[in-house]
Amino acid sequence: MSVTGDQFRDVMGRFATGVTVVTTANGASLHGFTASSFSSVSLDPPLVLVCLGKDAACHQPFVEGDCFAVNILAADQASLSVRFSTDVADRFEGLDFDTWETGAPVLRGVLAAMDCKLHAVHEGGDHSILIGRVERLGPVAGDSAPLLYYRGAYQALA
Ligand SMILES: Cc1cc2nc3c(=O)[nH]c(=O)nc-3n(C[C@H](O)[C@H](O)[C@H](O)COP(=O)(O)O)c2cc1C
Repeated sequence: MSVTGDQFRDVMGRFATGVTVVTTANGASLHGFTASSFSSVSLDPPLVLVCLGKDAACHQPFVEGDCFAVNILAADQASLSVRFSTDVADRFEGLDFDTWETGAPVLRGVLAAMDCKLHAVHEGGDHSILIGRVERLGPVAGDSAPLLYYRGAYQALA
């Protein structure tokens, strides 16, 4: 049985996820994209993954870089998700962020974040699977509610 893109999207859209902004720094140039494909992989060592489309403008800096940070968005941060998934001249303009161990931007006010060294890049069809080794993590705005994504729309916990 063949699977169409529409069917695949429709079924995967019923898997509710959180929303992250994944960032990296290459010298002075900063890159970031909105991602819901984030998952933990291993506890020891602490590994996480995120899938990045090969046709993304930021694909090259991520796969050729050596780090990334995962910023987990709070319920009131849908505008950050939109900013990092649409055509904006400078996605970091006016944003406050810190750097932790690796130099990747950790956005202020996010629910939680983790700073990762790029551990491996695996082949994943039309995406690359970025595996990160977590070097530092922290709740940033720990007790806020999370931003959720379900069936193509932003949602909040009931
Ligand atoms: C809620 C949401 C989740 C997304 N998740 C992913 C993802 O996991 N991987 C991905 O490659 N793109 C994902 N995207 C799309 C990218 O954020 C978007 O294509 C972005 O513009 C890519 O960066 P670019 O401008 O460098 O091409 C998602 C978009 C939204 C709105």
